[in-house]
Amino acid sequence: MKTLFSLMLALATFAATPALADERRMLPTQPKEEWKLECGSCHLAFPPRLLPAESWRKMMGSLDKHFGTDASLSPRENREITDFLVKNAASRWRSPTAPLRITETAHFLHEHDEISDAVWKRAAIKSPSNCAACHPAADKGDFNEHRVRIPR
Ligand code: HEC
Ligand code: HEC
Repeated sequence: MKTLFSLMLALATFAATPALADERRMLPTQPKEEWKLECGSCHLAFPPRLLPAESWRKMMGSLDKHFGTDASLSPRENREITDFLVKNAASRWRSPTAPLRITETAHFLHEHDEISDAVWKRAAIKSPSNCAACHPAADKGDFNEHRVRIPR
């Protein structure tokens, strides 16, 4: 009886091993994957190039008070994601005020100046932060103006 039990236990362990290995493979190991997973769970993972380095540093230093929500990470994740964001931040412009909203930067406002208030408020859009409403490939970091489609 005891041997049968050990045999069953051994078989169960054996059967569980491949699943465990699969799960391990799914854990993000690269900073980029980590960023996509952590910073893309509540909204689009906003591409790092849309804000300057000083904005990302400020944001990552106050994740416990992130736009009215708590988006805290472990110190290790925070360090890795901050590095990733800073390395890939906007390189051509700086902003001493370190804005936390992409949608409030002069850059964003300039690129979107032809969109009226009424359009921003459409049910299918709701907010300028809802990039994917008009940029169908936003989740791939693609904001090309030729692929913009404004929902009615
Ligand atoms: C727990 C949910 C949550 C997580 C996790 C989260 N955010 Fe946010 N984030 C929000 C909310 C809520 C807003 C405000 C959205 C709005 O006002 O439309 C926001 C807004 C933002 C904005 C401003 C968008 C704009 O309007 O221009 C940026 C940039 C941002 N988040 C980056 C990040 C980064 C980087 C991470 C990962 C470290 C992250 N977020 C993780 C909830 C989250
Ligand atoms: C209401 C629809 C709408 C929303 C929502 C929206 N955009 Fe746009 N976006 C546009 C339009 C329209 C253009 C300009 C296309 C043109 O110049 O012909 C544009 C242009 C851009 C460009 C410049 C593209 C280029 O090829 O030069 C970027 C970058 C961009 N948007 C990023 C964003 C980001 C990031 C968000 C979310 C934080 C966002 N947009 C939300 C409609 C939108």
